Amino acid sequence: MVYVIALSIIGLLLFITIIGIVRKPAPSARIPVDGQAFPEGFLWSTGEDPYQHEGHNYNNDWYLWEKQTPSPVKNGDRCGPCIDFYNLYEEDFQNAANDGQNAHRIGVEWSRIEPEPEKYEEEALAHYRNMLTSMREKGFTVFLNLWHFTLPVWASRRGGWEDQYVFSRWEALVRRCAEEFGPLVDYWSTMIDAQIYALAGYAAGDIPPCVKDIKRAVKVYRRLMDAHASAYRIIKQYAALPEGSLHPSPRVGMIYFFFYYEPRGFLLDRYICRAMDNIFNWNMLDALHTGEVNISVPLGPSIKEHDQSLKGTLDWLGINYYTRQMISINPFKPGFIEYKNLTIYPSTDMGWEIYPEGLYRITREAARRYPGVPLFIAESGLDDEMDRIRPKYILDHLAWTHRLVQEGFPVFGFTYWSLTDNWEWAEGFEPKFGLYAVDRNTMERRPRNSARLFRFIAKHNRLPSEEELKGGAFDYVNY
Ligand code: BGC
Repeated sequence: MVYVIALSIIGLLLFITIIGIVRKPAPSARIPVDGQAFPEGFLWSTGEDPYQHEGHNYNNDWYLWEKQTPSPVKNGDRCGPCIDFYNLYEEDFQNAANDGQNAHRIGVEWSRIEPEPEKYEEEALAHYRNMLTSMREKGFTVFLNLWHFTLPVWASRRGGWEDQYVFSRWEALVRRCAEEFGPLVDYWSTMIDAQIYALAGYAAGDIPPCVKDIKRAVKVYRRLMDAHASAYRIIKQYAALPEGSLHPSPRVGMIYFFFYYEPRGFLLDRYICRAMDNIFNWNMLDALHTGEVNISVPLGPSIKEHDQSLKGTLDWLGINYYTRQMISINPFKPGFIEYKNLTIYPSTDMGWEIYPEGLYRITREAARRYPGVPLFIAESGLDDEMDRIRPKYILDHLAWTHRLVQEGFPVFGFTYWSLTDNWEWAEGFEPKFGLYAVDRNTMERRPRNSARLFRFIAKHNRLPSEEELKGGAFDYVNY
């Protein structure tokens, strides 16, 4: 009997796998690019991230992690001086401003501001104030992010987000940032890609703190909701105080990564794909919008509760979208789930499929779920060292963004990620995302053709017309 059941299960899985291999998902639909104009005041942005750009961050958990032998990072890269944005920010901001961009995002590195528990580094605070002031002077709408993956060494040694003291220091950090930077910030993001941190850091164990425990992953995922909500309240409360010289009503939200998921085959693949979509893309944001926490990992832990303190804590949402992923069930993969990039369609140097329609679909779904929440394309971009396909990538993603605006979805800006080449986490320096290439020996910034294209778009607040694209000025656009 047991054999019969086992054989049937194996047969079913084989059947599903074969169907999955045979099925050919449609490529992205195309929207012709022909001078589409964006609404007045639409934000054109790029940005930098502390650990991915600043360099010289030697006091956080990523720094310790990279030091290991064998190296956990591709090619054994170490972030080290990175692209020295910490010292060269003025040049980068100036390039962005010259390129007609009217918005910019940076973030703060916790380990610089609070290198030891309860000891603030005034110099670092002043440095960030100078950066934000420079952004203001250049006329940017200013986005500031408070946390993205890295923890001060002391915080990670104490147990990171699972530790109550660290959580209380997070709240203190947010308060301090509100006091220091309030008048200089237009849009606050509490954190970036929180679910990736919980899942890759605590379930897959691929990035610090490299834990492989789905129960802890779900707890941290839930904890980060609290961290967001409490940061939201702290910034709002500070703004309401007489000394809170913030905007009368600061806009607080978060920046979040989305995959556009599709099932490889049918039946179980569809089920698992929906589960993945919920956990990865929506559960956290749903909870922050409605207060309903509803996390359910197939064959794993689940949390179902109402938490009023989470409700309504998204004044805006930053959407990071890069690619589509195909999902299928695979008994040989951790958690029985296999994620794959399609290789039959054009893809980036790292092999991420280019699927612009996904940006439209994800953003439309976010608008449906979170009525009243303004949406900002906080990251869209690709690694393409030779700039072969980046221009076309930008045009196609913007054509879909334009369609969203045209259809009345509340999208108020677009960010190309990133202004310069940078540190792509566990992939090291190999992926080149920048509009500007960086020579890491001299730290010289050199615009790729895509920088010219993005400049045209930002300055004119529209896409090039078909006629213009045929002309010599755009001969680098392989359209
Ligand atoms: C992250 C960036 C990263 C990009 C591409 C984004 O969601 O915020 O840090 O470079 O994805 O992987």
